Amino acid sequence: MTRFPNWLYNEMIPPGVDYSNPAQVEIYDHNHRKFRNYQKGAEAIIECLGLGRDDAVVDMGAGTGAFALYAARHCRKVYAVDVSEAMLAYARQQATEMGLTNIEFCHGGFLTYEHRAELVEAMVSIGVLHHLPDFWKSVGLKRAADMLKPGGRLYLFDVVFPSSLLGNFGTCFDNWVQSMADKVGPEFGAEVETHIRDEYSTYDWIMEKFLRQAGLRIDSAEYADGFAATYICTKQTG
Ligand SMILES: C[S@@+](CC[C@H](N)C(=O)[O-])C[C@H]1O[C@@H](n2cnc3c(N)ncnc32)[C@H](O)[C@@H]1O
Repeated sequence: MTRFPNWLYNEMIPPGVDYSNPAQVEIYDHNHRKFRNYQKGAEAIIECLGLGRDDAVVDMGAGTGAFALYAARHCRKVYAVDVSEAMLAYARQQATEMGLTNIEFCHGGFLTYEHRAELVEAMVSIGVLHHLPDFWKSVGLKRAADMLKPGGRLYLFDVVFPSSLLGNFGTCFDNWVQSMADKVGPEFGAEVETHIRDEYSTYDWIMEKFLRQAGLRIDSAEYADGFAATYICTKQTG
């Protein structure tokens, strides 16, 4: 068993929403299915990364399998990695029900997962990096780049803050909480409050800097709906 240094950030107990609780995992999946189409989302990512039948992909922070379960139909192998055993158990159960046999479920995270198999064509990570404080985000992204083949791609989606936020963050946060409560339900509004208060979303320019520091070229950076950032990156060679 790998021993980690005492100074390493403990990613196994993420701040904010408790994804180690099986009841919370079910609520997560139920709520997200109200405003996401997992299959369409996964297929759009597969297409934009140019992944095919021979390719392997790591889904970092796979959660209930929103990407992994649908990517498995298009790729040779999916490594679904998560720090939450409850999330992994839920996704594994779904995979069994869907008859999928090419997903490997791995307990670990951005800072602790050891990818011992071949380097992969891509990593996808959706709504995960904000669980790490800033320095550890940069470590996580460097480790992510190290799992990619030269020329491999990273698809990173996360909640980030625009540089202009400081001038009116109170109003922007209130509007965000209200819009999510209207769309999904009041308990989801409370989750957004937890995110803002306890989790570690950072500025857009910090994220871009960390991606480049990790040796990743940013092919596109899209910012939508105030706080939703999508980065598509390529691992630089040399
Ligand atoms: C908001 S959920 C996103 C789940 C999934 N990616 C999706 O698209 O629905 C965040 C997930 O990240 C996991 N997580 C938190 N910190 C992590 C870390 N440092 N490394 C990997 N996974 C982490 C949580 O257990 C949870 O499953």
